[in-house]
Amino acid sequence: MTRISSPQHSPRSKSEQHNPHRIVDQWQRPLRDLRISVTDQCNFRCPYCMPKCHEGRFDFVSVRDRLSYFELIRLVHIFTRIGIKKVRLTGGEPLLRPNLTAFIRAVARIPQIKDIALTTNGSFLNEYADDLKASGLSRLTISLDTLDQTHFTRITSQNATSLEHIIRGIQSAEKAGFRSIKINAVVQKNVNDQDVLGLVRYFRNTNHVLRFIEFMDVGRLNSWTESSVVKNLSILEHIHRIYPLVPLDPHYKGEVARRYRFVDGSGEIGFISAVSDPFCEDCHRVRLSSEGFMFPCLYAAKYLDLRALLRSGQSDHDILKQIILFWQNRDDQYSLIRQDVGHRSEFKKREMYQIGG
Ligand code: GTP
Ligand code: 5AD
Ligand code: SF4
Ligand code: SF4
Repeated sequence: MTRISSPQHSPRSKSEQHNPHRIVDQWQRPLRDLRISVTDQCNFRCPYCMPKCHEGRFDFVSVRDRLSYFELIRLVHIFTRIGIKKVRLTGGEPLLRPNLTAFIRAVARIPQIKDIALTTNGSFLNEYADDLKASGLSRLTISLDTLDQTHFTRITSQNATSLEHIIRGIQSAEKAGFRSIKINAVVQKNVNDQDVLGLVRYFRNTNHVLRFIEFMDVGRLNSWTESSVVKNLSILEHIHRIYPLVPLDPHYKGEVARRYRFVDGSGEIGFISAVSDPFCEDCHRVRLSSEGFMFPCLYAAKYLDLRALLRSGQSDHDILKQIILFWQNRDDQYSLIRQDVGHRSEFKKREMYQIGG
């Protein structure tokens, strides 16, 4: 068997240890990243997220119940008071929400926010890439599981969008000036596991960072079984036999992807192994759903209803106090305890499209 060493985790930096804003949860994990789902709607129906067979059962949030951009900006300001500098916008498909670039511009004007990233399925990049760049978006992540048109149509259940259209979207993003785009590929057994090398060949030498993600058991609709997961180690070994890899250090403590570079200098790839190699120990992400619920974990049933707080006239100070208390009580570590909890009903109440990826 090919042996490849694992990249090391970096120690927490001194400046982080002395961060006066630093609040920690029950496992001493700080709150560092804010992920905002701006909509739960999507034009795709990926089987691991919004399986087409459940069409009609998706429970979308109404425009009235969804947080307005004004409310979101207020919350981002509140989160900056406990040291949030990084915001990731997710969905559903975030570019389905009207005027997203105006919202990004408003977030970018908040001085404490240093990094704004967006996760998209790529289908609207031809229209929006230039505006996204101009609005101050720092980074782009594009979900793309295959370069095989038949598989692409089967996975997305979207006959109107061609793979070619997504590739042109990536090119539009490059032209707009986005560099080192992250390409996220969820791999499922007997669905797209044959497409891994095609993706590697295509994205080597592009300066983009392809990441393979293990199919996760988020929510209750995606018929997840352990046997449908392709372990990232087997993908890594397969790639390594053809294109030798060496591990890279993480960019920061708690980075979800383990990073590798090609020995021949053709770039970097990553592996997000939430099933076979969970990373809960350093999980510092908080998720805000489109209706304004703050989730401490992708699998959490408990949440803090920030919309209720915003709409009942509470002050920023009082909302902040409740956010801090909620985080301090957080003890979630679902991926680490998956084997023990099985399918117990207090977990996995929410679907990925409802919480944000
Ligand atoms: P940045 O560091 O902000 O650039 O983002 P990232 O590289 O951490 O990754 P991204 O936000 O693109 O996440 C990629 C995928 O990893 C998500 O779509 C999820 O499938 C998975 N993922 C991200 N965060 C978590 C997490 O906290 N828990 C679990 N179980 N999976 C996660
Ligand atoms: N398992 C792993 N990743 C998932 N995503 C959505 N559902 C799942 C799942 N069940 C991630 C994918 C997609 C992003 C929007 O969310 O990375 O690209
Ligand atoms: Fe849409 Fe992304 Fe979910 Fe696929 S994974 S259905 S593109 S939100
Ligand atoms: Fe964080 Fe929950 Fe994912 Fe673990 S399973 S890394 S606690 S979001």
